[in-house]
Amino acid sequence: MLHPVVLSGGSGSRLWPLSRQNQPKQFLALIGDRSLYQETVIRASKLPGAQAPVTVCSGDHRFMVGEQLQEVGVANGGILLEPMARNTAPAIALAALHVIADDADASLLVMPADHLIEDETAFRNAVAAATGLADAGWLVTFGITPDYAETGYGYILRGEALSDDGFKVERFVEKPDLATAEGYVAQGNYAWNSGMFLFKARSYLDELAKHAPAIFAAAKASYEASESDLDFIRVGKDEFAASPNDSIDYAVMERTDRAAVVPVSCGWSDIGSWSSLWSVAQRDEDDNRHDGDVISIDTKGSLVRASDRRMIATIGVEDLVIIDTPDATLVARKDRVQDVKAIVDRLKAAG
Ligand code: GDD
Ligand code: MG
Repeated sequence: MLHPVVLSGGSGSRLWPLSRQNQPKQFLALIGDRSLYQETVIRASKLPGAQAPVTVCSGDHRFMVGEQLQEVGVANGGILLEPMARNTAPAIALAALHVIADDADASLLVMPADHLIEDETAFRNAVAAATGLADAGWLVTFGITPDYAETGYGYILRGEALSDDGFKVERFVEKPDLATAEGYVAQGNYAWNSGMFLFKARSYLDELAKHAPAIFAAAKASYEASESDLDFIRVGKDEFAASPNDSIDYAVMERTDRAAVVPVSCGWSDIGSWSSLWSVAQRDEDDNRHDGDVISIDTKGSLVRASDRRMIATIGVEDLVIIDTPDATLVARKDRVQDVKAIVDRLKAAG
């Protein structure tokens, strides 16, 4: 059976000052009325034959997750609570161990909680195409045609065809440097890794045990030490703390020879920064996106978001991001918003 797994443990620091430790971006209504997390569980629940989605998140966010699920009326396949963040490799292992407890042959569809997908039909078709490959033991990723040299993504070189719609992964390179990424995009035969995966829970656990045994052992021990608390599954703290901090991309996908890719064109975007939010949002004739009480004259290409507390006015500016919140305001050039993370790091260092 197909079990969607929603990864919801990221901190979303590049969307500061709206995204905060106690309310990261996936729980915010950034576009429209629902949060990205809610959009993701709804998307999961519409997949044919899918079981109720499993969520993996920080223990600190348990009530927010519970409430947001209830608000959209999506059934709950279990909420696994991490005592601390150890990145996606152990998070996915917890989900795999959880579902195989009742369904030994389970398949997992891993879905990050912070993605936007415009064409759900294309997405569903890609999932269907990937199912046969996952059944045959492949760890399937969904490949996106790159449109620029993004260094925050994984890159996939496609190899021999495995089916009508799927290919063996020849090479998987997580977050290359800029020169390498530019080379890949120019070559034209690389795809972005979408960060969504489909595989048998068993295949993932086998490959994790092979390539990252310390992560596998820690995830297994912490799952075995877990306690149920209402709808929540609280995994063993000390056991989980012992896990190395690593992503599925570095720990498994770069190393395994069982990786496959299904190309998909589904209007996918990762809402990772203010500029990516601007690029997917509906904009006015001057290419501005305004949220809240905003007035502007001769302003172009800007994202301006007012808080409830005051209006924002702009004159004669271009390509700016202005985000106001009750206790912090961000003003940045739109091509510098990756550096918002550096501000958050400084704030953290300052305590
Ligand atoms: N439960 C849990 N625990 N979830 C986590 C954790 C964790 O410790 N860390 C990250 N996540 C969640 C995030 O909330 C997000 O939904 C997803 O896992 C991916 O994590 P990111 O931190 O956003 O990864 P990334 O964007 O740097 O890179 C990944 O996604 C790219 C596409 O968006 C990789 O898979 C890249 O290869 C890929 O191109
Ligand atoms: Mg991401």
